[in-house]
Amino acid sequence: MARKRIFRNRLNNLSPKEWIKFQKSWFIHDPPRRREEVLRHPAKFPESLAYEFVEFFSKGGQTILDPMVGTGSTLIACLRAGRHSIGIELNPTYADIARELVKEERENLLDSVHHLKAEVITGDAALLLDYNLPTIDYVFTSPPYWDMLHAHGAQTQRKRRSSPELDLTYSEDPVDLGNIADYETFLDRLIQIYALLPSILRPKAYVTIIVKNIKKGGKIYPLAWDLGKRLGEIFTLKDERIWCQDDIRLAPYGMGNAWVSNTFHHYCLQFRYEP
Ligand SMILES: C[S@@+](CC[C@H](N)C(=O)[O-])C[C@H]1O[C@@H](n2cnc3c(N)ncnc32)[C@H](O)[C@@H]1O
Repeated sequence: MARKRIFRNRLNNLSPKEWIKFQKSWFIHDPPRRREEVLRHPAKFPESLAYEFVEFFSKGGQTILDPMVGTGSTLIACLRAGRHSIGIELNPTYADIARELVKEERENLLDSVHHLKAEVITGDAALLLDYNLPTIDYVFTSPPYWDMLHAHGAQTQRKRRSSPELDLTYSEDPVDLGNIADYETFLDRLIQIYALLPSILRPKAYVTIIVKNIKKGGKIYPLAWDLGKRLGEIFTLKDERIWCQDDIRLAPYGMGNAWVSNTFHHYCLQFRYEP
């Protein structure tokens, strides 16, 4: 008689059915309407998106790092998923919003999360080795998409310009990667930060980076592909999952003249630390 195969799960706490759902290489995730407190930040990802990745790439009780945590989406997702979390954020205002939201989430989730750590460090990710971090089991993060928030024509920026309470850029700080005008310098500085991670990562831990290729001056700067190639020398590049948004209105860029796409997808790049 054939014996039933036992499903031994070393990576996460999902059932085989839940596991296989995540394996499709693309998915549609339309961010829910943002809460007032986080509208100020120009580019946050939804907690629900972070939650799905955290649930897949870690187990309950493990520790997750987001070295550029913004207003704290990764930390909120980790509390809901029962993971410890640490976020680093350069802009003190965003770091304070993240702390406030973590506090509120703790009040909502009550006793179930009192043992979980969800710490926000106000600081520069380039100094992450100075922050006395514990061993990290998974990194989930998204960097500034180069200096795109400085692009005056960007549709989202046009909308934000008419609301003075909303930030157009992350900060004026020269250490903020979103303020580096030269693409190669930006890429080098970002890679230098990610190259610090092996010192704190558990062997076999995954790193997920959410990113887009960037259009500027009629040219594509392949940030996602450049990261895949360059970080593939430090980690093993596993693959990408494509995050599609289909709730954005199409704009007639270049119509009648030239091919200019409406880019409604992000790359979720998966790397694994395999020393
Ligand atoms: C794409 S946003 C991340 C948003 C975040 N995932 C969220 O949902 O709120 C990138 C963040 O990186 C921060 N940042 C830029 N340079 C940094 C640095 N050197 N160290 C730490 N954070 C930095 C920016 O202030 C911004 O909040």
